[in-house]
Amino acid sequence: MNETILYTLIHTIHIYSVFIYGGFLFVDNLFMAKMTQTLSDDEYKKAREAIMMHVRKVVPYALMVAVASGIFMFINIFGEIAPEGMSQFQIILSIKATLGLWLGFRGINQKLFGINPWLFKSHLFPFVLVIIIIFLSQMMWV
Ligand code: HEM
Repeated sequence: MNETILYTLIHTIHIYSVFIYGGFLFVDNLFMAKMTQTLSDDEYKKAREAIMMHVRKVVPYALMVAVASGIFMFINIFGEIAPEGMSQFQIILSIKATLGLWLGFRGINQKLFGINPWLFKSHLFPFVLVIIIIFLSQMMWV
């Protein structure tokens, strides 16, 4: 397969997977969390679980796909570091990739090994990170 087509395909997969992962975090933080305003504790637990049982089958895998496709693109696009140091693109991409890898590391530990994140248990933290990562992924081109 032509390299450009392969890269574009992987890029598209990255966007879809990030869309699923980030989309869940948006819905969880902006809307699901608000269910506590109208439901009792018990109702909230049941309603949340009715959604989470489906989320668990999809979202963690979307995160893994995002990380795998991201690593592929990173290797292809990072380029050589010039003698005078990293370019602005390389610096921002490195920060973005580190944050993405950290999210991936947390998610994979949680899903595959049952190890819960030791830092920031709520979904607010990944939500904020995703917003920062999306911002960086656009600014790195400026
Ligand atoms: C959950 C974590 C991640 C999120 C939310 C995320 C989000 C995004 C977004 C929104 C874009 C821009 C797509 C576009 O404008 O067309 C992007 C591009 C990119 N991402 Fe990620 N990403 C994540 C993880 C990673 C990881 C772990 C890496 C690398 C190790 C990575 C490497 C890249 C690269 C290299 C691009 C540039 C692709 C291009 O425009 O050619 N990403 N990412």
